[in-house]
Amino acid sequence: MSLESSAAVGPPPGMAVRLSSNESPFGPSPAAVAAASEALTMAHLYPDDQQVALRQAIAAHEDLPLDQVAVGNGSAALLMDAVAHTAEPGDEVLAYERAFIVYRLAARNAGGHYVEVATDGPATGTTDGYGRTVERLLAAVTDRTRVVCLDNPGNPTGAHLSGDELVELVAALPEDVTIIVDEAYHHFAVGQLGYATVAELGLDHPRLLTMRTFSKAYALAGLRIGYVTGPADLIGPLDARRPRFNTTATGQAAAIAALGDEEHLERTVTGTLEGRARMASGLRELGIPLTDGLGNFLTLELGTDAGPVVAAYGEQGIGVRSLPPYGMLEQIRVTVGTPEEVDAFLAASQEILAGVPARA
Ligand SMILES: Cc1ncc(COP(=O)(O)O)c(C=O)c1O
Repeated sequence: MSLESSAAVGPPPGMAVRLSSNESPFGPSPAAVAAASEALTMAHLYPDDQQVALRQAIAAHEDLPLDQVAVGNGSAALLMDAVAHTAEPGDEVLAYERAFIVYRLAARNAGGHYVEVATDGPATGTTDGYGRTVERLLAAVTDRTRVVCLDNPGNPTGAHLSGDELVELVAALPEDVTIIVDEAYHHFAVGQLGYATVAELGLDHPRLLTMRTFSKAYALAGLRIGYVTGPADLIGPLDARRPRFNTTATGQAAAIAALGDEEHLERTVTGTLEGRARMASGLRELGIPLTDGLGNFLTLELGTDAGPVVAAYGEQGIGVRSLPPYGMLEQIRVTVGTPEEVDAFLAASQEILAGVPARA
């Protein structure tokens, strides 16, 4: 019997160039590594169950009181808890088509009914794909809707709602609907194409939760730290659901140090945006339609079954992501790598993508 996780299928570990899981190729901050190593020498002690030092660091960073911050074992765990906390069996959980797969899993675990809002179609030779509108989402809201999950920007499409659209959406959603805005990739999005974070917009809604993670720009995916901010009367009961000692001392220490290393973060974001632009223009030269969205990845249209294309990259030691769990059989998602990895990917693409039918 083979076991397959729809959320985390990746290339074999050890693949030379791993562009399949939207991790940061630039690695964690040296300060975070040092803090985690030091914490490891005390691994015989339980971690702080209340995660006070980390929550304080996040609260200071977000300019929020402590009771508006909860920390989880990655934001995926927080998402599962937040949906379970708000949706009863039979309630509707709303998200755009091809949104982050954990929303579907969270709705299923809560016994909820997962409802997808239509988006625009795939990228063409000249336009990005999978555009989202507020109008279509609002039209899908019913009196059974309890939760709206919005990955902004989205994974695996890179699509986003602009700041103005987010303001419009939050103002129009009923006060008893929980809105989860998942900003996993916000570091790669700020200042572009009208994007704005919930914090920048100062949005006000009694059930608005914002999810963040240390897995992307902070490059701590292996240590599993995410956080959620929102009104204290929502955050308190949500935090009470989590298993005791759910985050490790090493993870907590690394996250605090990562928050403090702004130079490393800046280098990571700059390197990612440079790589993203270079990958997009190299692929465009090859005539590949793609969505150059606001995450640390691109979504490519192949016009043919993605399986053999993924295998061809694999043969060259390059892991890229196929997307069957999203119903995207002719697309691949490619994470931005280091400059050398981008070179390797573009060089391999010359030959591998030469024959794909979607080429303009
Ligand atoms: C949109 C989105 N949200 C959340 C996550 C999960 O992050 P974490 O590692 O904090 O569970 C991911 C991971 O790929 C993601 O793409």
